[in-house]
Amino acid sequence: MPRSIIAGIGYYVPENVVTNDDLALQMDTSDQWIRERSGIQQRRYFTPGKDTVANMGARAAEMALERAGLSADDVDFIIFATLNPDYMFPGSGVLLQREMGMSSRGVPALDIRAQCSGFIYSLSVADQFIKTGMYKTVLVVGSEIHSSGLDFSDRGRDVTVLFGDGAGAVVLQSYEGTDRGILTTKIHADGEQAEKLAVLTPSGSAPRHITHEMIDEGQVFPVMNGRYVFKFAIEKFPEVIMEALNDQGLSASDIDLFVPHQANLRIAEAVRQVLQLPEEKVHNNIMKYGNTTAASIPIALNEAWELGKVKPGDLVCLAAFGSGFTWGSALIRW
Ligand code: UT7
Repeated sequence: MPRSIIAGIGYYVPENVVTNDDLALQMDTSDQWIRERSGIQQRRYFTPGKDTVANMGARAAEMALERAGLSADDVDFIIFATLNPDYMFPGSGVLLQREMGMSSRGVPALDIRAQCSGFIYSLSVADQFIKTGMYKTVLVVGSEIHSSGLDFSDRGRDVTVLFGDGAGAVVLQSYEGTDRGILTTKIHADGEQAEKLAVLTPSGSAPRHITHEMIDEGQVFPVMNGRYVFKFAIEKFPEVIMEALNDQGLSASDIDLFVPHQANLRIAEAVRQVLQLPEEKVHNNIMKYGNTTAASIPIALNEAWELGKVKPGDLVCLAAFGSGFTWGSALIRW
């Protein structure tokens, strides 16, 4: 059975840097509170009229393809993860396909809605298509614009300070050897927790998708039970990582690099301690970008790769947890 290797990785972040102090000018918060509770120092916000969810994803994908020595002509399948698509429908995958000139070939585009776990879910789906031999080259993209949907009043401060905009992408390619590639992916969900972190409107099941009242009452903004999410996350991260390691007959000490979804530096630190990993084996960059949900793992992995932290033969562990709740892990022999 062929394996999936990461043939190229890329990212795109918008140029507008927003510091904690910038946010403190708009709402009752402080640089100290945000740093202490989350580790975040700054994040990027998109430029309306320039950046879109799809075109940010396309920029990241172009970088990934170029680094793989490939072009858009080589892509067999697009998987696009986002919780904030450009339109309610169609998804942003087809918009990226158009943006990158793949429409005439009819390249299929699948949107994945698994929020913070979107990249791991996408990787898992892509890996299955490659293992079965159906596709040889799959583009996996995570792209998010949060800043247009956040509540910048005091009411939304707990959520708003955490999120940022950005995109990341990998090109997966079919590989016939057994020395490299994705070893396994594990994905899970618990729909009982759906409303613990969610945007409830616009809603397909409301009498009208969106009304003036929904907007006036702030129902269009994300709601989150932060403490509850935190507790679940620090339980599920290690669990799903151990599930993948056990499946492969490996242990946490075999991990060379752990790149967690960038939700909160305290969550990453708690998971690191449970797994007993030394600090240098974990790569975090939430300080610079905040939580970019589906984009956070490829943005962080790209940075680790650029810094030379990932070498051929290394065991790389990726893991995520988020709204749904959804969670998952991936083990990759680089
Ligand atoms: O990928 C999944 C995405 N989500 C997450 O991972 C979120 C997981 N949860 C968290 O990261 C943390 O729960 C938060 C960072 C959201 C909050 O940290 P916390 O230590 O759980 O604080 P808290 O929610 O218990 O709030 C402590 C206090 C409260 O005030 P009182 O009730 O003690 O007077 C909040 O009202 O901090 C207040 N607060 C703020 N203060 C300043 C909440 N947000 C802010 C803010 N600035 N932005």
